[in-house]
Amino acid sequence: MIIAAVLAGGSGTRMGTSVPKQFLEIGGEPVIIRSIKAFLKNSEVDKCIVSVSSDYLKFTEELISEFIDSPKDIFVIEGGKTRGDTLFGVLAFMKENDMLTGSIVLTHDAVRPFITDRIINDNIEAAKKYGACNTCVRAVDTVLLSENGEYIDFVPDRNTVFHAQTPQSFDAEKLFALIKNTPKEIFDALTDGCSVFTYHKENVYIVQGENYNIKITYPDDIGRAENIIKQYFN
Ligand code: CTP
Repeated sequence: MIIAAVLAGGSGTRMGTSVPKQFLEIGGEPVIIRSIKAFLKNSEVDKCIVSVSSDYLKFTEELISEFIDSPKDIFVIEGGKTRGDTLFGVLAFMKENDMLTGSIVLTHDAVRPFITDRIINDNIEAAKKYGACNTCVRAVDTVLLSENGEYIDFVPDRNTVFHAQTPQSFDAEKLFALIKNTPKEIFDALTDGCSVFTYHKENVYIVQGENYNIKITYPDDIGRAENIIKQYFN
């Protein structure tokens, strides 16, 4: 089974709006709805799990009935305090409902509504073949490492630097087992499944992302998002 997990349990403090950014409208639709729709229209994806904070469970269900008409199952479940907790909650839900064994799970930030069928298909193929993958783009700017924020410690070769996007996709059973084998204090510091794989020295394959697959984070990202819709999604 191929399951899309749309993680929407965050509060969006950097955006600073009264409603978390995943519920803001861009191009006439809430951000979270765009993300869910992108997965549902992919022919490989069987079901979608949407995690939101408890205050938004009912609201999310109402949005889904208003904006989405799909024969595929959509489960709205409660997210966790951290992104890692939200991710673990998805896997626990899959296990409780017999959806874990043999499944691929695509874990996705709800606030990245510009994923394409190509990205989704490449994720599914890579997760089947390698067990784990991360959608990434090559760094355009040179990246500097600095422990204290005052002096540069190291300048990595830009050709080896990538920006991580989502989806991150996995053999669901393997991800669940690795998380369960990760000490709690380590897992609490990791926010995503690929970090869990790399912590256990497991390979994570790189899938090519898109520069426009932005994570809506700050207020000026709304204008950027509207422009991306005009340029790529009309
Ligand atoms: N997320 C989640 N559960 C959490 C925290 C985050 O499902 N407890 C989700 C967010 O809803 C978002 C994605 O993870 O789709 C990336 O989160 P990010 O934008 O980094 O964090 P937010 O908490 O949403 O925003 P901020 O850091 O500005 O408060």
